[in-house]
Amino acid sequence: MSDIPVSASGATAIDVAWRCAREAGAHALSRFRGGHVIDVKGHRNIVTETDVECELRVKAILAEEYPDHKILSEETASDTDASSGWTWVIDPIDGTKNYAIGMPFWCVNIALCRDGEPVVGLTYDPVHDEGFWAIAGQGAFLGESPIRASSKPNVFSSVLSLDLGYDDGLGAKQLALLTRIFPQTQGFRITGSAALGLAYAACGRLDLYVHLNISPWDIAPGILLVREAGGVATERSGAPMRISSKKFVAGGRDVHADFMDRYAGDDWA
Ligand code: IPD
Ligand code: CA
Ligand code: CA
Repeated sequence: MSDIPVSASGATAIDVAWRCAREAGAHALSRFRGGHVIDVKGHRNIVTETDVECELRVKAILAEEYPDHKILSEETASDTDASSGWTWVIDPIDGTKNYAIGMPFWCVNIALCRDGEPVVGLTYDPVHDEGFWAIAGQGAFLGESPIRASSKPNVFSSVLSLDLGYDDGLGAKQLALLTRIFPQTQGFRITGSAALGLAYAACGRLDLYVHLNISPWDIAPGILLVREAGGVATERSGAPMRISSKKFVAGGRDVHADFMDRYAGDDWA
């Protein structure tokens, strides 16, 4: 039997995650392609009023269902220490730039972590009504169906994906990496949502996903999704990826190994 605690109303953690994701997802969808009030958080980094509203809705559900758990969330509780105890890690909308310009590639990202390790994760894409979820030791799923990471043998046979993040220098390193790899691959995709990029890597739509400057709420469900789907998620050094990792490579086992052999050199640091 799982030692993941049930909620105050007797629900499982994954059911609570689904309730949060459906609530936030429906709200965000109702505002999608409407006019947005946009705040600029940093260079190229924006937030809409809907991001904050979604986050508050999720927090209200969690306060009811898991009043003793901590919350680490992008817009209103980004300083919480998630390294000990039970912590919900939330990105109310991952892919805000896509959301704000009307691109249908964004998601609600929710994970429950124990001592910094994700044990329940859900990445929910409301536009396509696709929920990628995993529970530690129980596999990864898209809806009802089990998912598997890519079985492609190497970078050459793979489609790689990445995002540039909000640090100009590190974004430029990502672009340099693409230049090094191209044309020895089947293609690149810049998703605009690291969370969905990882979910797509977990189900083999993408073979490998790479980022150099990420935050816990972008990746907490994805780490679990990729691993439970039989894939590999590591830091550039090869150390296991954690929610505190900044630079990572995640995807199918063999393409990950080939990428690490060929491209995880010093110029990526
Ligand atoms: C961002 C997206 C983007 C990634 C950034 C993230 P946001 O999250 O996941 O793909 O490159 O590093 O911060 O701002 O849309 O929640
Ligand atoms: Ca994000
Ligand atoms: Ca976000």
